[in-house]
Amino acid sequence: MKKFARIIGTGSYLPPKVVTNHDLEKTLDTNDEWIFARTGISERRIVEEQGTCDLALEASFKALEMANIDARELDLIILATTTPDKIFPATATMLQNRIGASCPAFDVQAVCAGFIFAMITAQQYVENGNAKKVLVVGSETMSRIVDQNDRSTAILFGDGAGAVVLNADDETGILYSKICSDGSYLSSLQTSNNRINELGFIQMSGSEVFKIAVNKLSNLAEITLQECNMLVDDLTWMVPHQANIRIITAVAKKIKLPMEKVILTLNKHGNTSAASIPLALDIAVRDGRIKKGDKLIFEGIGGGFSWGSLLVEF
Ligand code: ACO
Repeated sequence: MKKFARIIGTGSYLPPKVVTNHDLEKTLDTNDEWIFARTGISERRIVEEQGTCDLALEASFKALEMANIDARELDLIILATTTPDKIFPATATMLQNRIGASCPAFDVQAVCAGFIFAMITAQQYVENGNAKKVLVVGSETMSRIVDQNDRSTAILFGDGAGAVVLNADDETGILYSKICSDGSYLSSLQTSNNRINELGFIQMSGSEVFKIAVNKLSNLAEITLQECNMLVDDLTWMVPHQANIRIITAVAKKIKLPMEKVILTLNKHGNTSAASIPLALDIAVRDGRIKKGDKLIFEGIGGGFSWGSLLVEF
């Protein structure tokens, strides 16, 4: 019998230190009105002592608690991050030990699309019968790769983590998934280093990223709906990568999805890269917006570029 990868628990975590737009005004030539109007972001969280694994651990505990399962029951852990604590071992492997699991664990890297890539990888394991319970995490300490003197990026990014537990289900779960990559866009969004042991900060051509993101994400949303024989009205919610309110609004407009059906949480945490989709999902599950049976589309795009979508029955 076909198995579906179904979300049975969600969790998220933000580090305690808040950096508001007003705080940034003190160190950068910028202001709250400009940042909020251009991005929809009012504040972001920044780590002090914590690392990517610390954030992942907190989000994972919450997801396991909601799923009502013990870490020892997990068959697989996949962690999406652009900001691993170490070159090796994988942050997922450190998480496995700290959470008390004994299953295989590995990282995936697709920047802001990382969570979608990790979910689709997990989906393959569940659907082919090789795993029943999978922990999928997006965790980032983006502040470590942002030049805090660069106003074009320092205003956008924040740190955080989100996690989901997937369970093999007989009836429903992930209904459709698609990932895409195009490395020819390297110069639009990348880190500045050429070697792993050189310090690298995010370099971005904001207006180029904006256009590419709107174009790729709206096309992919349309393909996703077509492949599922669904109309936009059949969607309960879109849970987009929380990069920028104007990208999200432009995509929703292009596919004719009312903004009332879009989960927006970026105001309070900014762009947390691979963490942003599970963070937004968890906030909306816990505040009661997202309910069992809802049809959700997840969409994300990350530098370089990689992008993807998931159609999920929650
Ligand atoms: N504060 C104040 N003014 C600023 C700032 C700032 N932080 N940054 C730029 N400006 C000024 C510019 O100097 C320029 O001034 P000028 O008109 O006198 O020359 C003016 O504001 C407009 O600058 P633009 O760069 O054209 O601003 P734009 O409207 O494109 O907004 C932004 C910039 C917010 C970065 C936008 O391009 C954007 O959202 N791009 C998408 C980037 C993104 O979301 N990246 C996330 C990573 S990828 C992903 O997750 C999908």
